[in-house]
Amino acid sequence: MLEKLIQSRLQSRVREILPEANLATVLVRPCPDLKFGDYQSNALMAIAKERKQNPRKLAEEVVAGLDVSEWCEPVEIAGPGFLNFRAKTEAVTEVLKSASRGDHLFFERTKAPRNIIVDFSSPNVAKPMHVGHIRSTILGDALVRSLRLLGHHVVTDNHIGDWGTQFGKLLIGWKQDLNRTNLEQNPLAEMGRLYKQVNARFEADDGIKTLARQELVNLQQGDPENLKIWREMIDLSLQEFGKVYSRLAIQFDHVLGESFYNSQLKGVAKNLLDLGLAQESEGATVVFFEKSTGWSDPAIILKSDGGANYTTTDLATLEYRLKTWQPAEIVYVTDARQQLHFQQLFHIFRRWHPVAEVSLSHVWFGMILGPDGTPFKTRTGENIELNALLDEAEERALATVTEKNPDLPEKERLEIARVVGIAAVKYSDLLPNRQSDYRFDWDKMLALTGNTAVYLLYAYTRIRSVARKAAEAGAGASVEALQLTLPSELALAKHLLRFGLSIEAMAAEYRPNYLCNYLFELAGLFSQFYENCPVLKAEGSDRSSRLVLCELTGRVLKKGLEILGIETTERM
Ligand code: ARG
Repeated sequence: MLEKLIQSRLQSRVREILPEANLATVLVRPCPDLKFGDYQSNALMAIAKERKQNPRKLAEEVVAGLDVSEWCEPVEIAGPGFLNFRAKTEAVTEVLKSASRGDHLFFERTKAPRNIIVDFSSPNVAKPMHVGHIRSTILGDALVRSLRLLGHHVVTDNHIGDWGTQFGKLLIGWKQDLNRTNLEQNPLAEMGRLYKQVNARFEADDGIKTLARQELVNLQQGDPENLKIWREMIDLSLQEFGKVYSRLAIQFDHVLGESFYNSQLKGVAKNLLDLGLAQESEGATVVFFEKSTGWSDPAIILKSDGGANYTTTDLATLEYRLKTWQPAEIVYVTDARQQLHFQQLFHIFRRWHPVAEVSLSHVWFGMILGPDGTPFKTRTGENIELNALLDEAEERALATVTEKNPDLPEKERLEIARVVGIAAVKYSDLLPNRQSDYRFDWDKMLALTGNTAVYLLYAYTRIRSVARKAAEAGAGASVEALQLTLPSELALAKHLLRFGLSIEAMAAEYRPNYLCNYLFELAGLFSQFYENCPVLKAEGSDRSSRLVLCELTGRVLKKGLEILGIETTERM
């Protein structure tokens, strides 16, 4: 795209003048304010500062020998040394033409693909997914899509919680009180009930505690009956999770749960002890942290009963992943409450494997709140089940679709409602800055106006309907005819050129909201264009040219929504 071409020219020019400058910092970005230009670089100011040079002088020297006239109007130097670039209309037109011929869609695949593991969703067996898992699932999937589109090699791994002390309680409940009929109807609800019931007896009844410990030890030692029940719990849970994943069109390359690392845990603990990183303390194996970390409590690697915990499993998981996939990066997508866990995990890992070059990122997110601003729960205080949530989204969308299109056959209305309902849930999860909590609000997310999935889908269907009507009239887009004359045509075209930048920004910071906002702006610019420039009522080459703009906007909208994991529909 233009910014990449300008950037590489600028880098060559900087190299000419300052051969030792770090060119990786010489970047061309979109101009935040279009008044000043389309693209901008502030790199020279930092470079000048490092060298104690006058930034403006340096900028003048760079610009004097910088030829970007194929793509830009004369470069402007602003303020203390910003370079502002304004794209020439002909250059913009050329990029649109090549996109229209199918050479690209305003983004480029990376020249430096990386192996990236994304650990996301990761619900716990025998429990319904809670809203934290919902957000991890939707966010993680969108991140994976953006990385893959840019050409990175992504491995996805669903690190399900299928091991741990909860199975002691679950086994008691299963053996004493399982209701097979309930289990068949709603396995997660039945297992949840068993768990809660045993849990309630726990405080008052020491006998239960001993029994739970015994059941757990039996399981860990391979007792056939307990193993069989445990496997059934996993299978049933995975089937239920699978239903949700298939509704959301989400797939994983691997589902390696915590239990997969069982046999490694003692070895991890021994290794940490041998290296002097862990110590025995009150019968447990623990890692103490340096004062500078501010963490006063040690991390427990093995409890005094010999059981390992979450951190130990995650250490073993890390080692396995490094060995198996040689990742350049591992990304963990979970809610904000796990920040300390991951900080400590990464810290221990760095001391354990000081030469490993893998970068480790915890991509955390805030809570979903109910309409009253407290954590999102059902009226009876239960966790929201994702399946029920999606049902309700589809029902509500159906009501809207039916109101707008009472004449569409029911089958079609149901299909549109499915697309719209799921889109609304996903989009409302992806749009807010991921680190802030957001309020779940049905009316807002299903509104036809404002920054919503419904609005974007609606914009898309409008474009598709223009294309259909044009075809009926025997008209079509023609690349040769493309001409950007009116301001709203040029504004739309320039925004199309920025599609790649928004995907790159999303992938670099793991923030889908960048792409959401890009698409929202695109839909807005399209509306303005459509209001100001007749398309179907235009004639000859004007019509063919504007149909090119419609078509490209439609393709970018569709691709952008696809990155967010959102399907489109031809009608609404
Ligand atoms: N199962 C965990 C939970 O529900 C999330 C796991 C995240 N991934 C990880 N490698 N720790 O809280």
